[in-house]
Amino acid sequence: MDAPVCLITGASSGIGEALALEHARRGHHVVVLGRRLDKLEALAAKLSALGHGPGKKDKKEALALACDVSVDGQIEEAVRATLARFGRLDLAIANAGISIDGAFEQTTLAAQRQVMETNYFGILRTAYACFEPLRASKGGFAAVGSVSGFVCVPGFTAYTASKFAVRGFLGTLEVEWARHGIAVTHIAPGFVESEIRTKRPDGRATRDPIPPWVVMKAPVAARDIADALAARRPEIVVTAHGKVIVQVARHAPRTLARLLHAARSKVPGFGRQR
Ligand SMILES: NC(=O)c1ccc[n+]([C@@H]2O[C@H](COP(=O)([O-])OP(=O)(O)OC[C@H]3O[C@@H](n4cnc5c(N)ncnc54)[C@H](OP(=O)(O)O)[C@@H]3O)[C@@H](O)[C@H]2O)c1
Repeated sequence: MDAPVCLITGASSGIGEALALEHARRGHHVVVLGRRLDKLEALAAKLSALGHGPGKKDKKEALALACDVSVDGQIEEAVRATLARFGRLDLAIANAGISIDGAFEQTTLAAQRQVMETNYFGILRTAYACFEPLRASKGGFAAVGSVSGFVCVPGFTAYTASKFAVRGFLGTLEVEWARHGIAVTHIAPGFVESEIRTKRPDGRATRDPIPPWVVMKAPVAARDIADALAARRPEIVVTAHGKVIVQVARHAPRTLARLLHAARSKVPGFGRQR
């Protein structure tokens, strides 16, 4: 079992699924986590078909485990199962995330709290659970924030607050964990193809309000992210529009927030309760 082992939370769709496929292609054993075990098992079968399944010549394997990162104890259990199976962990990607939209007064405290429990505390739970095995392997810890961690996006109070918190946490952890030999990476995507805008947290399907020409394909995003992780970079902003937004946000954060607020009337459904 000398190939590197990569664990990904929220791998049942979107960016996480694409990252699992990309890391399998790059020769990792891949552990895929999420709440929808049926989707994860289908993904593990796909990874196996790529030549990473049990019994294949190169002995790369995929492991699918049910894990809700918003519940204490579940990620710890998944990391234990990973170590029992592979004996090591080289890369952990805390990717699981959800979003709610609508004006602040239309949201509830319970919904705001669930976003933080998943997008922020889910990453903290993953970091605590992975620390010892990553220290042993001198590996990498990455978490998926967002361009919304740089710019205030009206209509997304919970999401924006959670992603600002993620960015602050990772920037701090990157300096702290350097002395343990663990590379920490903040991944900040712009619009990428996934279920986050087309599936509401209650399971309802909705139309993606963002025009397709703006949205980056998930496998393209996964390749850029995997390159950054292999290079142990502290931060990657994914998508060209994301890079522009981050630069503008550094110099004119309030103007940009107001422009995004005005843009909501031009993009039906964006940042509005649906
Ligand atoms: N796509 C974009 O445009 C974009 C832009 C910026 C940032 N991001 C970030 O990218 C990350 C991935 O999202 P995505 O865009 O790929 O959306 P997605 O297709 O909806 O994927 C989100 C993943 O998170 C999992 N998840 C949600 N709640 C979970 C929980 N409590 N415990 C464990 N897994 C959970 C979901 O799986 P289950 O339902 O099976 O649990 C799913 O696999 C998120 O952090 C998101 O905020 C996305």
